[in-house]
This record gives sequence, C-alpha cells and structure tokens, in this order.
Amino acid sequence: MHQQHRLEDAMRRALHLAANGPAEGVNPRVGCVILSPAGDIIAEGWHRGAGTCHAEVDALGHLDAAAARGATAVVTLEPCNHTGRTGPCALALIDAGIGRVVYAVADPGQNSSGGADRLRAAGVDVTGGLLADEAQAFLADWLVSARLGRPFVTVKWASSLDGRAAAADGSSRWITGPPARQDVHERRAAADAILVGTGTALADDPSLTARAADGSLLPHQPRPVVVGRRPIPASAAVHRHPLPPWFVAEHDVAEVLAGLRERGVRRVFVEGGPTLASAFVRASLVDEYLVYLAPTLLGGDRLALGDIGVTGIDAQRRLRIEQLLPLGDDILLVARPAETAPADRAAQPQTQTTPTDGHRPAATTAEDTHVHRNH
Ligand SMILES: NC(=O)c1ccc[n+]([C@@H]2O[C@H](COP(=O)([O-])OP(=O)(O)OC[C@H]3O[C@@H](n4cnc5c(N)ncnc54)[C@H](OP(=O)(O)O)[C@@H]3O)[C@@H](O)[C@H]2O)c1
Repeated sequence: MHQQHRLEDAMRRALHLAANGPAEGVNPRVGCVILSPAGDIIAEGWHRGAGTCHAEVDALGHLDAAAARGATAVVTLEPCNHTGRTGPCALALIDAGIGRVVYAVADPGQNSSGGADRLRAAGVDVTGGLLADEAQAFLADWLVSARLGRPFVTVKWASSLDGRAAAADGSSRWITGPPARQDVHERRAAADAILVGTGTALADDPSLTARAADGSLLPHQPRPVVVGRRPIPASAAVHRHPLPPWFVAEHDVAEVLAGLRERGVRRVFVEGGPTLASAFVRASLVDEYLVYLAPTLLGGDRLALGDIGVTGIDAQRRLRIEQLLPLGDDILLVARPAETAPADRAAQPQTQTTPTDGHRPAATTAEDTHVHRNH
C-alpha cells in the first residue's frame, strides 16, 4: 500500500511535469519520474515538443548509469516503440537497465505503440493504467487526435432561451453578458485554431483573438481560420490578428480538419456561425459542445443550428450534459455526444473512458489510422 501511494505521488508529479511541455503541436505532453529502488525520486523529465527527446530519455539524461539500473520509471504515456527523429523510448529504458515501468495511458499510435510489450519481452516489469483517468483527461485532445486521426473539435454558440443565435436582422452582439464572453476568451486560448464561416466573418468582422477582461491579448493565441469560398476584405479585423489567418475555401468539414491536422492543429474551436456549426454536427465531428444560454428571447428564424441531418425523431442527436456553469445572468452547458458517433460505429471499440471532468475525451472507438508521433 505504501508503495502504491509512492507510485501515485510519482505519477501526479509526472503529470505536473508533462504540463511544462507545449500544448500546441502534434506531439503529446508527457512527463516522467524515475524512482530509486527505495522509492525516492532520483530524476525527472518531460517532452518539449517534436524533434526534442522524449520524457523518459530526458529523465534518464539526468542520471548516471549506475543509478538507473533497477530503478522504476513512472511515465504518463506508455513508452513509445518508434524510431523517428529520436529512438524508441522502450529501448532507451531497456538499455539503461530500468527494472520497472509504470505508465498511465496506453499509446494509441499505430507506429509508436507496443512499447510495453517490448519492455516486457526484455524482462522489465511493466504496469499500465495508474491514474489513467487523470492522464486521459490531461491528454484528451491528443488522444482524440491520435485515435481518430483528426483534431479535437469544440463547437460553441451563444443563444437565447428560444435557441436563436441572432436577431432577425442578423445582429448577435451581444446575446450573453461579460462573464460568459470572458469564459469564451479563456477557452479560445486553449485551442490551436478558431474557426468561423465566411458568413460570420462578413457579418460580425470578429478579430478572433483570445483576450483578458482588460482587453489585452492572452499569452496563447489560436490561429484564426475562416472557412468558405467568399473572399474576406483586406480591411477585415481578422487580418490584424497576431497570427496570420488561414482561409480555407472548402465546405467538407472532414477535409478542413484533415488540412488543419497536417498543419499541427490538434484542438479546434468552432465559433460558428450556424451554417458551419451545423456542418460539423451533421458530419458527427463534434467532441464537445459549449452552449451559452442567455435569459432572453429573440424569436424569428436565426436558429443556433440549421440542417443537422435529423429528419425524424429517431435520428435526433442526443447529448450528455457534463457541466452546468452559471456565468453572470447566463448559463454555460458543456455537453458531449451521448453515444458513439455514427461514423465511428463501424470500428471496434478501443478504449472506454470514464467521466472525470469537463475535459474527458469523447467516446473513442475508431481504428488507429494515420497515427504516429512526430519525433
Ligand atoms: N450566437 C452565436 O454564437 C453566433 C456565432 C457566430 C455567428 N453568429 C451569427 O450568425 C450569422 C451568420 O450565420 P452563417 O450561418 O451565415 O455563418 P457561418 O456559418 O459563419 O458562415 C456560413 C458560410 O460559410 C461557408 N461554409 C463553410 N463551410 C460550409 C459548409 N460545410 N456548408 C455550407 N457553407 C459553408 C459558406 O460560405 P461561402 O459561400 O463563402 O463558401 C456559408 O455561407 C450572423 O448573424 C452572426 O452574427 C452567431
């Protein structure tokens, strides 16, 4: 029992270290702690992004050869078995003489998984699943990206109690109050890219920046992306975003996501409008919904969503509400698809996740296609 506590403490420390890594980019954030046979922390490491050494190798680099022999490596993600720009971590651990490896989450990567088996084959004692819920929550976006081969998608809208996203004349500023709008800015800052359709870009001229309450820019800015074929004027506010905007003249949202993933995007924040949001819903490409509900009525036909492919009640899109947050006079509902998306049903279940918090990955069932860690 005492040893189990030490391992859990070490895993918490490894998760804390992992958070030092870059949230953006194609590689996961991973932390590693090495314990002496007596259970003391003797080295720590984390991954600093594609092309740099992995957490395990970083930690081993802080140890002399004698200390590593027979030690326990506690790592947030199964050590990889892949030779890219760096060698396989499983091999580095074996070569160093590590006696035991404890990890939290299995590596879903087609090219990088198999590290646990390789370690076991070399006689290393391997255990997976320690603090798996915490680690899954921490890695939610990367795991979706790795398992489904696309970025994690959040769709957000603000609507009146009667489900309208704008007034009859198209004006929508503002439906919600300052606390709700500030919440949006903070969540924008956690995304790699923020998407709007050309309709919203032309109607609202949004800057698509993530800002603090005083109007200053938050440290991390999502890439602004405008989806659609109509041109956006050179005077548009999006051109003054600190990151040059990307314009994607494409209506197939799966294609949009594939292109974004190729450019290193793993967390997408879709801010609408209703046409673009509906396209993501219709294609079953939404992992998380953020619905900001304001106590107001707008009437009319400017609905938050349009055609999402529901022609009869049997085809309704059931959601599971995970959080309900009061924000000033408004309410934020955080919801997830209640069941496996139709597009994923054909594939075999791979990992079941259990609820932990609002950042839990969506049901993840697709085969591991197109996956590798970019070493
Ligand atoms: N309440 C809210 O949260 C909220 C948020 C955003 C916007 N709004 C309001 O929404 C209104 C704009 O609505 P909207 O629906 O026109 O905006 P939109 O979804 O931002 O833009 C629609 C346009 O995007 C392009 N597009 C991109 N992907 C598409 C796809 N898969 N299918 C079809 N078209 C696609 C099309 O333009 P192309 O012809 O250029 O290809 C389409 O006309 C404004 O009144 C705005 O104020 C409200």
